[in-house]
Amino acid sequence: MSRTGLNSLLIVFIAFLVLLAWVLRRDVSQPNFVFTPEMVYSVPYDSFSANPVFVDGKTMQLPVPGTVARGATFFDFEPTEADALRAGEELTSPWADESMESELVLAAKSRGHQIFSTFCLPCHGAVGNGDGPVAKRGFPPPPALSAESGLKMSDGQMFHVLTFGQKNMPGYASQISEDDRWKAILYVRGLQDAAVRKAEAEQLTRDSIETGRQLFEKLNCNKCHTVSPDVKPVGPFLGNIALAYTREQLRIAIEHPSKTIAEGYLAQVFLTIDGRTHSGFVTSETDEQIIIRNTDGNEIVLPVDDIEDRRTLEKSAMPEGLIKDLTDEEIQSLLDYLKSQASEAAPGETVAVETPENPGSDDNSPDENN
Ligand code: HEC
Ligand code: HEC
Repeated sequence: MSRTGLNSLLIVFIAFLVLLAWVLRRDVSQPNFVFTPEMVYSVPYDSFSANPVFVDGKTMQLPVPGTVARGATFFDFEPTEADALRAGEELTSPWADESMESELVLAAKSRGHQIFSTFCLPCHGAVGNGDGPVAKRGFPPPPALSAESGLKMSDGQMFHVLTFGQKNMPGYASQISEDDRWKAILYVRGLQDAAVRKAEAEQLTRDSIETGRQLFEKLNCNKCHTVSPDVKPVGPFLGNIALAYTREQLRIAIEHPSKTIAEGYLAQVFLTIDGRTHSGFVTSETDEQIIIRNTDGNEIVLPVDDIEDRRTLEKSAMPEGLIKDLTDEEIQSLLDYLKSQASEAAPGETVAVETPENPGSDDNSPDENN
């Protein structure tokens, strides 16, 4: 075929296409004919819209019972008390293994601390005493985590509590991953240990104070000293002594009374014209008379004219060696007892420092407790 013939044929063909397009004249704004509309147009229900397809008429359906979420382990427990106990028997914490590398455990604990501070502290309080800000505002306060029930609770049961909650405590399964729940429990165990240790230490101190109190009587310290402001003392009032003295200073004052004679407590000896001697602390002195308080606590009035001689004793009226037979532990108990007397004075209370000149007065109190 010649070249012109070929071109003419092409032109005729194009003209035919144009004509065909004009004849068919499709409305492009309209869809083509649809053979299977149900497949092409599925019916989308909104998550919360009513749904005629399901029996319960809802669109969102609960997972089929027994469904295990991706990545989760199978948790075959119901939110019941019986299952909480069963969880306690059947589940073990991944951190229960004592031989675990301590850095790993520490990192887990640190994560547990973070979880605790975020989710638990608001109710349980910073150290788990049940005094968090939410509990303080009227939410039923939880028991201290170191209460007996909490101490007895096994890791598995605690995991059940964290997962499903317990009475007023909601479950945290949706907010805290399994891994983090175990770490929070690891942290709670640390809080419990600390609380138990603290209580034990306090008990030890209480026992020691009681031992000290008995020693204070047995060694007759109470014959010369009192720890109660209402009793008239022979020696210095010791109820507040520990506020001004360190333990070491107190120990020295008791072991070597003459080294550190309390101000105003230098005993004086008076020889009177009738040939008698009187010793004691001067409680008042005028031109006419001197009043002394002797070691029995009795006041003696000595007219100045009767006095022949007067000396100040170099030695303390408190005997040496009172505690030389005590063990170090017993001495510590005695000091604990004196310390405990001082801590009973409320902060801010003026501390009465008594001297024989002004027994019971608090004129020369050092300010506050130091
Ligand atoms: C909304 C306040 C609240 C929050 C938050 C909370 N708890 Fe509790 N929790 C409670 C209450 C209330 C109880 C006591 C429930 C009861 O009466 O048995 C409790 C009980 C417990 C118990 C059992 C104590 C026992 O002696 O029976 C444990 C363990 C515990 N919570 C741990 C946690 C941990 C860990 C978290 C953080 C993941 C947490 N709780 C978060 C309020 C809370
Ligand atoms: C015979 C009476 C007497 C007995 C018993 C006695 N003390 Fe003393 N004590 C004094 C006198 C007096 C002073 C004041 C002089 C001084 O500082 O040594 C004093 C001082 C002290 C001080 C120092 C007070 C201060 O303000 O510096 C302490 C502490 C003390 N006694 C504790 C004890 C203890 C503890 C015992 C029992 C183991 C005891 N005393 C037994 C009479 C006694």
